[in-house]
Amino acid sequence: QSTITPLIAGNWKMNGLSASLDEAAALKEALDQQPAACRVALCPPATLIAQMAWRLKGGAVLIGAQDCHAAAEGAYTGSISAAMLKDAGAGLVILGHSERRQGFGETDADVAAKVEAALAAGLEPIVCVGETLEERDAGKAVEVVQRQVSGSLPDSLAGAAFSVAYEPVWAIGTGRTPTLEQIAEVHDAVRATLEQRFGQHGSGIAILYGGSVKPANAAEILKVSNVGGALVGGASLKAQDFLGIIRAL
Ligand code: G3P
Repeated sequence: QSTITPLIAGNWKMNGLSASLDEAAALKEALDQQPAACRVALCPPATLIAQMAWRLKGGAVLIGAQDCHAAAEGAYTGSISAAMLKDAGAGLVILGHSERRQGFGETDADVAAKVEAALAAGLEPIVCVGETLEERDAGKAVEVVQRQVSGSLPDSLAGAAFSVAYEPVWAIGTGRTPTLEQIAEVHDAVRATLEQRFGQHGSGIAILYGGSVKPANAAEILKVSNVGGALVGGASLKAQDFLGIIRAL
């Protein structure tokens, strides 16, 4: 795991107007002064990507989108293609977030198709997986996550830059987190699945943890076996909070 460059990515979800870019700029300035020990990304709403790219120009903060359409272009009113996100200034894209799987019915196959589209456009996918509370209580967390990883990752990821984010649905925005043992168990299982599928390339893929990561719990979570960074929601909206997590590494 020592060869993996960790990634700490902030998912703003449907939060943020142009004034919020001051927070992104404050983050950039802080990292200009004292570089992070990892890759850092912000994933704002699509409406802010181009402006954010402009404000963060020349800095180390990478910019990501939160979703893309699986098709390259065409008659899909209201949708945004991977190439458009890239054109606006994004380098990464979150795919298969549980809020998309649950709220928009995205299946593993849908996510895999979006991953293909992202790769074709030159975006680095962050593929999200995670069990519900019912699945965890039924003792099926590892099984569910391994199935999602297998189904959501197309073969074309072999040799490609991507990461996987484990976000237990019940830990998102709730202030509840799994125990460190539970995080280790799932991350180890994801690693095994990645290695089985992609061989040595799978050993170098960062597996992020997401779900109520805060400055106060970041250090212990980031030390867990096979945790190669974090996908942060609420605590990524304010530069100070997000920096607290970045500096915990
Ligand atoms: O994608 C990140 C997210 O789902 C976690 O959200 O607010 O619990 O950090 P939060």
